[in-house]
Order: sequence, then structure tokens, then C-alpha cells
Amino acid sequence: MQTQIRKIDAESLALAKELLLQGEMVAFPTETVYGLGADARSDEAVLNIYRVKGRPQDNPLIVHVHKGFDLNTLVYDERPYAAKLREAFLPGPLTLVYRSRGTVSKIVSCGLDTLAVRVPSHPGAQAFLKYVDLPVAAPSANLSKHVSPVSAQHVFYDLQGRIPLILDGGACSGGIESTVCDVTGPYPTVLRQGLVSREMIEKVAGRCDVYVPKAGEQVRSPGMKYKHYAPKCRTCLFDSAEEAAARFAAFEKEGQRAYALCESKYAGMFPQGRVLDLGDKPEEMAARLYALLREGEQVADVIVAIRPAEHDGIMAGVLNRLNKACAGD
Ligand code: TXA
Ligand code: MG
Repeated sequence: MQTQIRKIDAESLALAKELLLQGEMVAFPTETVYGLGADARSDEAVLNIYRVKGRPQDNPLIVHVHKGFDLNTLVYDERPYAAKLREAFLPGPLTLVYRSRGTVSKIVSCGLDTLAVRVPSHPGAQAFLKYVDLPVAAPSANLSKHVSPVSAQHVFYDLQGRIPLILDGGACSGGIESTVCDVTGPYPTVLRQGLVSREMIEKVAGRCDVYVPKAGEQVRSPGMKYKHYAPKCRTCLFDSAEEAAARFAAFEKEGQRAYALCESKYAGMFPQGRVLDLGDKPEEMAARLYALLREGEQVADVIVAIRPAEHDGIMAGVLNRLNKACAGD
């Protein structure tokens, strides 16, 4: 199969709709990462997503809709605070988990009685979702376990030959996946941290917890139990910049090409041209992280990362992704 990358225009949107209605997949931009979309009403189309990504079949998908879509056709909107969250943050990088009406394929939620719904703010995503006017099931458009894609070229690298169309909306501005927040309970619970922070949700809803799975408990957001976001090269992560610099030097001595992934303030500790610079503001770090991990895996034998000290607000989400990308080493 030939994979086309097309700018978003009347022609590519018409093609996208035709493909979705045939049960095919279409990759599209959002403000967080690129999504791999399929018609959420079709078992076969949704199964295709799992097959193409190599995704475990107990990790549910998010349904994407345009901002005018009637939520009540998909879910029960039972909590008054959920309306406040929609008003404050949508369209945007916040996914809300409701009790499902069961109107989309059951495979989307892997048999759970809930459904995750997202209304992305990216104009290209809105144009696509409005044009197709369907609930579109979409995970991030990477192969399972690889770093999420933040450009059409990243999607092409992972999925060329496996999907017919990538809608190109440029680089994603947000850079890490949406916050996933359960709104079925008496107050909101964050299941996956992201650019809408726990603190921001708490301000609007009065209270917000972050779900931390207890040992032995069934996981509420199954995606959390998998290793994720990892680049193809070796990675290691340090809290201390001095330790990272020493390890970097040791790798180089062994003949391994090392690259440092760190905040701008540490860049001077490493050789020129060997720094994957995260910047120094949380938003910057979120926006750059995945692009730098993908750049790094192309050139490095090993990425030596320094964990930023700040961990509040959206840094919680950035650290979560950095920890997962560098897990196991
Ligand atoms: O920013 C994003 O959310 C991107 C773009 C494409 O929208 N999508 C994305 O999808 O990151 P994915 O499939 O890579 O991650 C979906 C996350 C997983 O952690 C999954 O477990 C959780 O959402 N999830 C989906 N449905 C759920 C449900 N019903 N209950 C609990 N967690 C759910
Ligand atoms: Mg993903």
C-alpha cells in the first residue's frame, strides 16, 4: 500500500472521508500528537488500528469528535463539574472519560463500560472531524511502544506502507498526549497527566485527584501499565547533571556516540552539537520532547538525559513521559 502525505484541503478531506467509510485508517494532526483515526462505529475498522499499531487489545482508544458534535449520542453526561471542565478547556488537550452509551464499537473501550472522548483544538483536526462528522477512534499514530509522532514525517516513518493517508497539519504545538480525566465519579480523577494539569482542573472543579494504581489492583487506565514512548536507541536518565556528564564521558570513551537530552542550562556541560536541548520552560519541554527523542534515536548510540527538578503543573506530564521513554535502563 502506498502512503500519501497530503496537506489538508477540500480534496484530501473528501479522500479521508471516503477512506474512513471504507473501514480504512487516516492519520491526522492534533495539538498534542498525530492520531491514527478510524470509524469508531465499525468493529473491523477499530480492529485494524490495533493490528497496524501492534497495540495490546486491552488498551482502550479515545474517540475524537468536532466541537459541534452531540456528546449525548455517545455518553451519559452525569456530573455537573464535567460541563465546567468542557467550558474551561475544550476544544483542547483534555480527554474526558464518561459512562458509555454503547453506540460505538465495543472494541474501542475494550469491554469497559466507559468511553474516552476528546475534542482537539488543532484547526486541521477540527476541519477533518467536522468534514467526516463521525466519532473517530484514534490512538497516537506511532507503532506501539515507540515515541508518539509530532509531525507527518514521524507518522510516515512508523506507518508507511500500512495506511493510505496522512493529513499533514505541520508540527504539533503541544507535544505530549492529552490529559485523560475520569468524570464518572463525584470529583474528577486524572488517569494520565498532560498539558491540562491537575492544578488547572482543581481550580475549575474544586477538587481533582491523580490516580495512582495500587499494587495488585486492576488498572483503571490500561495504557498506564505498558512501556511507552521509547526511542530505538539506548537511553539513561539521571537526577544529577554531574553524574550525567560523567556517564556521557564514559560512553564516549567506550566509543559510543552519546547525546545529552537536557534543559538549556546544562547544555554547556556537553560537547557542542551533542545536545538535544529541551529549552527551559515547561511548555517548551513538552513541545520538544518527542521530536528530540526521535531526532536522537537517528544519530545517537545512547541518549543521556537529565531529569528536570520541577515536577508541578504540566511538568508532571513531561516527567511522566521522560521517565517512560527512559525506563528500563
Ligand atoms: O493526545 C492524545 O490523547 C492523542 C491524540 C491522538 O488525541 N491520543 C492518544 O491516544 O494519546 P493513545 O491511544 O495513545 O492513549 C489513550 C489513553 C491510554 O492511556 C488509554 O488507556 C486511555 O487513554 N483510555 C482510553 N479509553 C479509556 C477509558 N475508557 N478508560 C480509561 N482510560 C482510557
Ligand atoms: Mg499512544
